[in-house]
Amino acid sequence: MGNTLGLGVGLGLGLGLCAGAGVVMQAAGPNMEHLKRNAEAFVNRVVTSKHQHNTEDIDESSAEGLRDAMSYAKENPMLIQVPVLGTARKFWRLSDKATRISRKLALILESQHSAGKYLTAPLKLSNVRIGSTGSAKLRDVSFSAKGFSIERVRDDYKHLSKVLLKLIENSDGDIANLPPDYSEFLVLLGRGNIKMEDEFLIVNHVALLPMENRTEVFLMLHDRIVNHLGRTDKAKKKRILRNLPYNNDWLDTARANAEINQWVVNVKNEYRRTPIDLLRLNRNVRCHLHQYNNDDIEETLYCEWPELLMAMEKMLHLVGELVKTGIEMKFG
Ligand SMILES: *[C@@H]1O[C@H](CO)[C@@H](O)[C@H](O)[C@H]1NC(C)=O
Repeated sequence: MGNTLGLGVGLGLGLGLCAGAGVVMQAAGPNMEHLKRNAEAFVNRVVTSKHQHNTEDIDESSAEGLRDAMSYAKENPMLIQVPVLGTARKFWRLSDKATRISRKLALILESQHSAGKYLTAPLKLSNVRIGSTGSAKLRDVSFSAKGFSIERVRDDYKHLSKVLLKLIENSDGDIANLPPDYSEFLVLLGRGNIKMEDEFLIVNHVALLPMENRTEVFLMLHDRIVNHLGRTDKAKKKRILRNLPYNNDWLDTARANAEINQWVVNVKNEYRRTPIDLLRLNRNVRCHLHQYNNDDIEETLYCEWPELLMAMEKMLHLVGELVKTGIEMKFG
């Protein structure tokens, strides 16, 4: 991955959330204009997409070098194996293009649903067209408003989960190697009991985040849980902490990893085996990245605790706090 964190927006907002409240403005200072522009661009994009999805998401002309999903998948592995720094192990994760394609397809469905429409026939892999950058469109499909209901929405996502599985299999990926967050994303799609408000979780599922933006999203969700809810709704905060994974062994995992252990040894405030300290360690590692010059630490944290960010997100969604985090802006 190399130096994926860069020094731009990542540290702009990231360090803002790392610093105490008083330092936030100062740390974010040089990037304020940038952030504002991002926010404006985002608003524009939302407005545009609401009005144009019907034509934009459907590939009629094939003018953009899009190709059949099947042939794309044969040449582009969706599941890739990466070394877990600080250990001798390896870990399978989705490529950033694979998560981008997955999200794009979910977004196409979601935008039709929000217009009260659904697919008139089950989505098939042959309906999917993919570009070299991981853009995706549909072909030979039609949407209808007639008889629209939550059942049709559920069907659309069920078929999407099957298409995504096929896509991964066609790229030579072994389904048994799917990382747990992406597996759970597919289960969520296929669950058959989702509600309309779950669509926000689907299209903004952390399993679909580009690796380089996981740091910021962790800090945003951490801030929402620990600082914001810690002030305004302690019951929600407690409920979220109670439901975080790895309670019994996270500290052993941290010590057993030579990279992460650098943040564990010789600290003033020793880590205890509690969920809040699991979050504290994860925050500290991300906030003092440059100290140990380890650009790939985000991926390492993901490989060691692949379900942590997902659990934080799922719980925020359950207690009605996810929409307020602004997570939808972090997928590029
Ligand atoms: C990361 O998030 C920023 C917004 O903060 C976005 O502009 C960028 O495209 C995202 N990176 C990727 C690789 O999607």
